[in-house]
Amino acid sequence: MKIERGKSLLYLTQHDVVNAGLNERDVMELVRTALTEHGQKRVEMPAKIGIHPQPNTLMHAMPAWVPGVKACGIKWAECFPENHRFNLPQTSGLMILNDPETGWPICVMDAIWVTAKRTAAVTALACEFLAPKDTEVAGMLGAGVQGHEHALALPHALPKLKELKFFDRFPERARQLVKDLQPKVKKVKLVACETVEEVVRGSKVVASATAILQKPNPQVRDEWIEPGAFLAPVDFDSMWEWKTFKRADKFLVDDHGEMKYFMTVGYLPHGLPKLHGEIGEVVAGVKPGRERDDELIIDMNIGMGVEDMVVGWEVFRRAQEKKLGKVLPV
Ligand SMILES: NC(=O)c1ccc[n+]([C@@H]2O[C@H](COP(=O)([O-])OP(=O)(O)OC[C@H]3O[C@@H](n4cnc5c(N)ncnc54)[C@H](O)[C@@H]3O)[C@@H](O)[C@H]2O)c1
Repeated sequence: MKIERGKSLLYLTQHDVVNAGLNERDVMELVRTALTEHGQKRVEMPAKIGIHPQPNTLMHAMPAWVPGVKACGIKWAECFPENHRFNLPQTSGLMILNDPETGWPICVMDAIWVTAKRTAAVTALACEFLAPKDTEVAGMLGAGVQGHEHALALPHALPKLKELKFFDRFPERARQLVKDLQPKVKKVKLVACETVEEVVRGSKVVASATAILQKPNPQVRDEWIEPGAFLAPVDFDSMWEWKTFKRADKFLVDDHGEMKYFMTVGYLPHGLPKLHGEIGEVVAGVKPGRERDDELIIDMNIGMGVEDMVVGWEVFRRAQEKKLGKVLPV
């Protein structure tokens, strides 16, 4: 199986990507590299451009170049929150990797797995720097793909975690998640809750992955949030009260340019509170992480092409080693 630049490329299905064999720890370390490079401003990553065929939907172009690991290419990512009507996940995508010497495309892969894993890995990494060290109880709003991935990733970053609680607007999804994943997540008790309040009260870390809405529909009451909590929305302000965002001692995003872009297309109607910085800056040691036990810290991430490229290139390398995928003529 040989890929010849300019003559052929490797096509990797979802199945091939999974079989490349990266685990949560591998993805976390790759994402650490991507965030460090981003935090040190050693990457090229213009903010997304996109089209929005239905309300609250998006199709985004995410090009990125990470010279430190010679990873370049683009992800074409889609998010359609009402896809449950078609029994389909809301997040889909395809990735093209390009040879940095010639520019020629050398790999096309399904991007669902990379998106799913790297997003939860970024939350987990953020926990390493921003969550209270003694976190024993954490919560997750949304029990879809991201709910599952966060259940697998968070225990790696929260060594004292004993309980992880879930809520979904379809309660059977939270129950099913617990049934499916408890055998895999042995050291942490997974709990399906009936209300958002049950998840948030008592949790030192709360992540949310529901739906990205242009008009937020806050479900988390500010007074339920624990003092000194770390909050990690990957779905913008959809679930959170603006007063919570405003009173945060440290508010971070993954990329300020991305946030500005989203505001131009109708998201984040309240804007952003004063920023402490970008999560990559904290991972790179340019800005401090948690400094006090009682700080409320929020890191709101929308996802970055640099993460996709660094993880995607490792998938590509391992797929070649394992002779996975189909070589296609260009
Ligand atoms: N920031 C990033 O890097 C990134 C990457 C991937 C996905 N996302 C976002 O994460 C969110 C979840 O993505 P996914 O792939 O897990 O989708 P999914 O469709 O697999 O899961 C979403 C789950 O959230 C539930 N949900 C929706 N609205 C809810 C509400 N108001 N209260 C409680 N539960 C609710 C749904 O029932 C579903 O089970 C989306 O907003 C998506 O855009 C962000």
